[in-house]
Amino acid sequence: MTAIHKKFYYRLRQALATTVFLKPQPKPMIYLGSGSRIQLSQAIARFGFKKILVVTDKPLRDLGVLDTTLHALHKAGVETAVFDGVLPDPTEQVVDAGITCYRQERCDSVLAFGGGSSIDAAKVIALGAANDCNSADCIGIGQCKLPAAPFFAVPTTAGTGSEATFIAVISNNETHAKGAVIDASLIPKAAALDPEVMRGLPPHITAATGMDALTHAIESYIGRWETDETNYYGLAACRLVFDNLEEAWSNGENLEAREAMALASHYGGLAITNALVGYVHAISHNLGAKYGVPHGLGNAIVLPHVLELMVDDATEKLAEIAVYCGMGDRSDGSGALARTLIDRVWALNEVIGIPRTTDVIQAGDVETLTDAALTEGGNYPSPRFISRDECRGILRAISA
Ligand SMILES: NC(=O)c1ccc[n+]([C@@H]2O[C@H](COP(=O)([O-])OP(=O)(O)OC[C@H]3O[C@@H](n4cnc5c(N)ncnc54)[C@H](O)[C@@H]3O)[C@@H](O)[C@H]2O)c1
Ligand SMILES: [Fe+2]
Repeated sequence: MTAIHKKFYYRLRQALATTVFLKPQPKPMIYLGSGSRIQLSQAIARFGFKKILVVTDKPLRDLGVLDTTLHALHKAGVETAVFDGVLPDPTEQVVDAGITCYRQERCDSVLAFGGGSSIDAAKVIALGAANDCNSADCIGIGQCKLPAAPFFAVPTTAGTGSEATFIAVISNNETHAKGAVIDASLIPKAAALDPEVMRGLPPHITAATGMDALTHAIESYIGRWETDETNYYGLAACRLVFDNLEEAWSNGENLEAREAMALASHYGGLAITNALVGYVHAISHNLGAKYGVPHGLGNAIVLPHVLELMVDDATEKLAEIAVYCGMGDRSDGSGALARTLIDRVWALNEVIGIPRTTDVIQAGDVETLTDAALTEGGNYPSPRFISRDECRGILRAISA
């Protein structure tokens, strides 16, 4: 086969693979509300699973947030093994240790219990375990022959919506560059959105993860791959965030606000599953990879800047969000409504303590960060491409 043929078949395979985003995807069965993690545990027993690998992180386990779920699983007759080695932005090494644990413990299913990091790690553990391969072999679109091992999730942050998506993000051990594992079987069979596990989530994590949910909602809504269905979820998520994030941040014990945020996060995840994200994520992912900036925090800082750039390209869509969220009515005019929405994003960031800048960005890194963000962002269906100057401008504006 000549080089030209190889290139042609490679392009064809990639094009066919990306059609995965255009198809409607299955959705997890959802248990919602206080105590729903217990209902999920009983459902796992009814599915007939005998031993489940619970994937979580150590701080969360030490807080005792997992105890009720473990107890409910045992009571329902399901044995458990706990892998608590997840770290924020899990690396291939962490995931491979989880795959080994699954095999050694002879598990038949996986339960993610934690934030997006635990859920993403659990997804790739389930996929790698079923295919008897390492996490690196799973990176890409549909790389594995067999579907993931049966997988369930209890999100303990309200932001990533990872329990709704078929994507998992894992980092390279050395470079920390993020790689995406994309496979339809990464959508859990069932998930519990239980506000009780979120009552101890510290305010700064509530704030940052909540803005991740808002970013998913807005980027999917203004992007070019939106559909009626993703728009429905995007709008609903925007309203839930504007109505509840401040309360969840200031009064973490308010279970109504926590539940609303869990739902916002889930709707955001459903929206990006088909409509994808945009330049906010492209820039934030690279701040995470280079300096370890938490995913939600990076998005929160970058979101209003990208919206300022997109205001003329997405005026109507931004105005629609503003109207849906009760920030004005059609008679205000699209331009004014779009302006109001962006001002409300700036204001929400201010109220919940999101800093305007970060001191991690080194002046000497701006060009490489720009390259990486533009390359990633070029793959997303944003309202328009942004220029080098614009991307550089955002990085300089958010540098302390
Ligand atoms: N797959 C997807 O669709 C998707 C989408 C967005 C983000 N992500 C990924 O998700 C990750 C970020 O996830 P995250 O923002 O949820 O943070 P996280 O999972 O990294 O957790 C952040 C911190 O919060 C703590 N924590 C979590 N829940 C808690 C609770 N209830 N009480 C007290 N502490 C708690 C954790 O111990 C951890 O220290 C990133 O790796 C990102 O790439 C994935
Ligand atoms: Fe995100």
